[in-house]
Order: sequence, then structure tokens, then C-alpha cells
Amino acid sequence: MTRKLYVKSYGCQMNVYDSHRMADMLAPEGFVETATPDDADLIILNTCHIREKAAEKVYSELGRMRVLKNDAAREGRRVTVAVAGCVAQAEGAEIIRRAPDVDLVVGPQSYHRLPDMLARAEHGKVLDTEFPVEGKFDHLAAPSRAAIRKRGVSAFITVQEGCDKFCTFCVVPYTRGAEVSRPVAKIIAEAERLADAGVREITLIGQNVNAYHGEDADGRASTLGRLMHRLADIPGIARLRYSTSHPCDMDDSLIAAHRDLPALMPQLHLPVQSGSDRILEAMNRRHSRADYLRSIERVRRARPDVAFSSDFIVGFPGETESDFQDTMRLLAEVGFASAYSFKYSPRPGTPAAEMDQLAETEKDDRLQRLQDAIEQQQAAFMARCVGMTLDVLFDKPGRQSGQIVGRSPYLQPVPVIGPTSLIGEIAPVTILEVRTNSLYGTLATARQPAAPALAEIGA
Ligand code: 5AD
Ligand code: SF4
Repeated sequence: MTRKLYVKSYGCQMNVYDSHRMADMLAPEGFVETATPDDADLIILNTCHIREKAAEKVYSELGRMRVLKNDAAREGRRVTVAVAGCVAQAEGAEIIRRAPDVDLVVGPQSYHRLPDMLARAEHGKVLDTEFPVEGKFDHLAAPSRAAIRKRGVSAFITVQEGCDKFCTFCVVPYTRGAEVSRPVAKIIAEAERLADAGVREITLIGQNVNAYHGEDADGRASTLGRLMHRLADIPGIARLRYSTSHPCDMDDSLIAAHRDLPALMPQLHLPVQSGSDRILEAMNRRHSRADYLRSIERVRRARPDVAFSSDFIVGFPGETESDFQDTMRLLAEVGFASAYSFKYSPRPGTPAAEMDQLAETEKDDRLQRLQDAIEQQQAAFMARCVGMTLDVLFDKPGRQSGQIVGRSPYLQPVPVIGPTSLIGEIAPVTILEVRTNSLYGTLATARQPAAPALAEIGA
């Protein structure tokens, strides 16, 4: 009997990956994925806790699910509603108390137990938010070839989960738990399977991915840099990326990987949060402004054309105008290709939530100024790409007929007129113009000389 599964993913790439793993786990139970909740027998909300009022947003979504569930019941259909992800972990039984229509609450460490939990949910509410000792990864089902193909030529692999850094603003160490790295052999096996099904690009993901220290074949701890070397050797794998990193964990082997591996793409997301030493200290970031700039410099020396992106928080408790100016100066000094910026907002249970808070108007004002500066840098970076010939990995047809879309090494979308036979292939594109956030160009007939390093043409 086939049943329909609808999974809605919120938040980070880790959740997208986890949603796929849940679908893979449920496929042998006869579940096929559907694109809408309307005809689903099982609805999973894979929630994220990082944004402000995340739990409240989940409760209002659950209100909508309740209507759907009641409508289906009137037609004689039973719909099972499950809440997964970090809100499930953080709220636990509170979810079933506040939203009694929810059948199942499952934390990120328990997805491998989903089939069993579903069976139990036939007879009553089920809750599993344990941090089990045994590795969930060993029990998670591998995707079928067909499922891999459907998900495209670019895939994620979770290599570590959790975080031990305890930045004072962040919920991750509480919702995802202590840092755990997967063994090298398991990751290689997963990558080989993906490559075999046609995947060309792999992004290694984890909450603190460059803290990776999974066990190697000889029983010793590996590093992310060494893992990259192994992955780059897999036939078919043309591109590697990783996200999200902590500045303190940019070790020499990772820098060497940037220098030595053409497959490791010249694009790095390295959150800094603030440019003020005082605030970095209060955030318990464990690095100074100078440490951060040094990390950037080391990467640039290894690979001059790396495009950096970052995360910033403005209005952290105690942040003065002068602290904020330090952040603005750091932005100018580095020259980012893109960046995310957030107003600090207290997360219950984290140390910074107990500190004296800034006025909202002050935060709004700083966020606006920071975002204006970021936008300028983004536009400048995009403009510098015009005239370059960039390798593009094509991954899907475009919106207009005859168009295909891919990604540049710097992760920008690049639509061109070209044959669909190029999907899954890398081809050089000469960039002619920037429109919104995409680079438009034409397929280059012959390989042009290498693009000049971005850092050399003025950041
Ligand atoms: N307030 C504002 N932004 C936050 N982030 C994490 N926690 C908070 C918070 N309490 C931001 C950080 C992090 C990104 C994923 O979300 O910048 O890098
Ligand atoms: Fe959160 Fe990242 Fe800090 Fe870990 S390193 S506590 S995930 S902000």
C-alpha cells in the first residue's frame, strides 16, 4: 500500500538533508513524497529554532495542519502530523500539550526510529527527543538511485552535527547537542554512492563543520582538510564545498586543501557575528577581530579568488555605537561577496537572553546601515564578475524556454541559453551582465584564459 508523505523543511541545509533522510527512511514503508500537504497521509514539519519566535511560527502552522486534518477526517482519511527538527527538540511534550492534533514529536537525533514511532502513533501520542548514545547515522537508510537523481547534481552530506562552542546568543548547542563527527569511511561511502548516481557537487554540512574530527581508517581523528582530499579523489566529484564554519577551526590542513584542491570551490561562509573585540568576548566567540582577519588572510594566500560570506548580529546586549563601527570597519576591510545580517533577539535558555537588552529602534537603525553596506559590497562583487569566463555547473532548466541554469564557483546563479544535455556538466560561461542576483552570459566556445583573481582586482 503506498501512502503519501509531505515534508516541509524550514531553516538550514542540515534540515533539507535531514528531510531527505526521513523520506529515505520511510520509502521502504511504502511512503512516496508529494508536493502538497493536501493529499498527504503523513505530514512532517521539519522545524528550525534559529530565527526569532520560531516556536510561535510552528504553532500557527500547526493550526493550519489541524484544519487540514479535520477536513481529511470528514472524508474518512486519517492524516498523521509529525513535528521534527530543533523546535521539536526544544519544545518536546509542550508541542503535544499546545497542539493536541500532533501525533508525533521527533528530535533530530531520532529520525532513524521514525518507522517504529509511526507504528506506535497509530495507538497514541509518540515523543522521542532523546540524545541517544548510538549513532543515528548508522541506522539511517541510504537513498535509492532514483531518489538521488531526482534531487539533482548537487548534494549535501552531513559530516558532523552539534556544536561545543556555546556562543552566548545561540540555541544550537542545546537543540543539536554536543559535537559528533561521522567516521571518514561512512562519508566516503555516501559520496561514492552519490557520485555513482550522477552527483557532481557535494557540500559537506554541519553546524560547526570545520570542527570535523571523524575517525580515519587507522583509528585516528581526521580533519576536514584531509577528508576533502579523499573526497576530491572520487571519480565524478568535480566540486566540493562546506558550511558552516567557525573561525577558530580554520586549521592548516583546511587551508592546504584550499591551496591544493581545484575541486574545493573558492567560496567560503565564515560567520564573524561582530567586528568588536568587546562584543566577541561577550558572545563567547573565542576569537578576536584580529584572529578573524588572520583566518581570512590565510585562506586568501592559499587561494586568492575565494569569495567570502558571513553572518553578522547587530544590537547584541551591551553593543555601543563604537562597537558597531568596529563591525562596519571589519566589513569594509574584508570585502564580502555576500552576507547575512540579523538583529540580536534573545533565545530563551541562552546566557545572552539574561543580559540587558538594547532598544529595538537602535537595533533597527544599525541593521539598516549594515545591510546598506552589505548590499553595496554584494553589488560590487557581482559587477566584478562581468567580463570573466566562469565555470558553471548546470543543474536545471531555466524559466524561459531554451534556458538552463547553473552555479558559478562563487555560488551565483547563472542562466544561459543552452541545451539541456549540459545539465550535470560544467561548461565555461562568459559573463555579460548582472540582473538582480544572477549573472547572465553566453556559453564560451573555447576555454578562455583563467579569470583574474578577484582579490587582485580590488575588493
Ligand atoms: N539573534 C540573532 N541572530 C542569531 N543567529 C543565531 N542566534 C541568533 C540570535 N539569538 C544568527 C547568527 C548565526 C546565524 C545562523 O543566525 O548570525 O550565524
Ligand atoms: Fe551556534 Fe555557531 Fe556559535 Fe556553535 S559556533 S554556538 S552553532 S553560533
